[in-house]
Amino acid sequence: MANGSVIPFTRGVPPAESFPKAKLAECATTVLMEHGDEVLQYAPARGFRPLRAHIAAETGAHEDQVVVGQGSLQLLDLLARMLVRPGAVAYTEEPSYDRAITVLRRAGAQVVGIPLRDDGPDVEALEEQLRGGERPVLFYLVPDFQNPSGSVMAAAKRQRVAELAREYGFWAVEDLPYRRLRYRGADLPTLRDFAPERVVQMSSYSKLVSPGLRVGYAVLPPDLAEPLAKMAEDTYINASYLNQAIVYEFIRRGWLEPHLEYLKALYRPRLEAMLAALEEHLGDRATWHRPDGGFFVGLYLNGSVRAEDLLRRAQEAGLRLTDGRGFFANGGGDGFVRLPFCALTPEEIREGIRRLGMVAHKMSVSGPE
Ligand SMILES: Cc1ncc(COP(=O)(O)O)c(C=O)c1O
Repeated sequence: MANGSVIPFTRGVPPAESFPKAKLAECATTVLMEHGDEVLQYAPARGFRPLRAHIAAETGAHEDQVVVGQGSLQLLDLLARMLVRPGAVAYTEEPSYDRAITVLRRAGAQVVGIPLRDDGPDVEALEEQLRGGERPVLFYLVPDFQNPSGSVMAAAKRQRVAELAREYGFWAVEDLPYRRLRYRGADLPTLRDFAPERVVQMSSYSKLVSPGLRVGYAVLPPDLAEPLAKMAEDTYINASYLNQAIVYEFIRRGWLEPHLEYLKALYRPRLEAMLAALEEHLGDRATWHRPDGGFFVGLYLNGSVRAEDLLRRAQEAGLRLTDGRGFFANGGGDGFVRLPFCALTPEEIREGIRRLGMVAHKMSVSGPE
């Protein structure tokens, strides 16, 4: 790493070295030679059937409840357009995935953030809003290694939110793209385990195989699956069967599980480097989540911070940061920094956090500008 080079703490993407290119090439050849007539043709919008059957078996759903689309974000967009009437309230965690907030707003939702604690959303605050008479159409959550904070929702909270979804009649939309990237500890139940009839579960192969293939999916209650598939059909006819079949072939050959082990071995030291560097350089100037997996550590700088000030000073110090305000539906987030660690080497992470520590130090000395 050149000393003066800019470190991009903006890239929440897998690194190029994670892509199993030779294996995917083999899968692509097999798929084209053996299923070419099917995967090169128009096809039903729900997606490549063997992949849907695999996801159904994995989640205990019926195949008809599975819709495979062009990445999970597009399915979220279709779902939002389908469920949200103009002015309807949609809850997100606060902070939440910025693109999900955008998609919900674009569908006409009034997005309300429920404060995020270290172990998931503040359920008391949620219950208070609901008891106060607010009736959200949905609650969008990322329970495992959340984007942007890295936080993991406690099992009891998953159960309670699922119960509240049932009691108050909203859809809990749980988005799980990082769930399989757990570097320590054991899996927790999903929200869908507690209330399958009120939960839409979304996930994706973007972080497990390749985002460029654009293969994501939703597992929905039956009365939502049908209209979502119809909406997909009327929007793009079908997502790429070729790509879905390549992903399926990768799984069928038994290559996904060892690939996940490879990814965890690649990312675990990056997370450890991030946590150690934060302790060393920002211990008394910020608080942060300590995730056991995923792509991100979310950091909250102490004191009053203006986002413009932080971004400018970071740039001067050779750091590119994402504006934290985009993750906060209710406003605020000036002092929030999302730190993706998977696409940087441990050396870059250590240097980046050292620079961020200097920025935080200067800001605390000179105060907000
Ligand atoms: C929480 C979350 N959901 C969805 C996506 C997008 O996934 P896909 O590539 O499947 O559209 C991302 C990507 O960063 C994400 O962090």
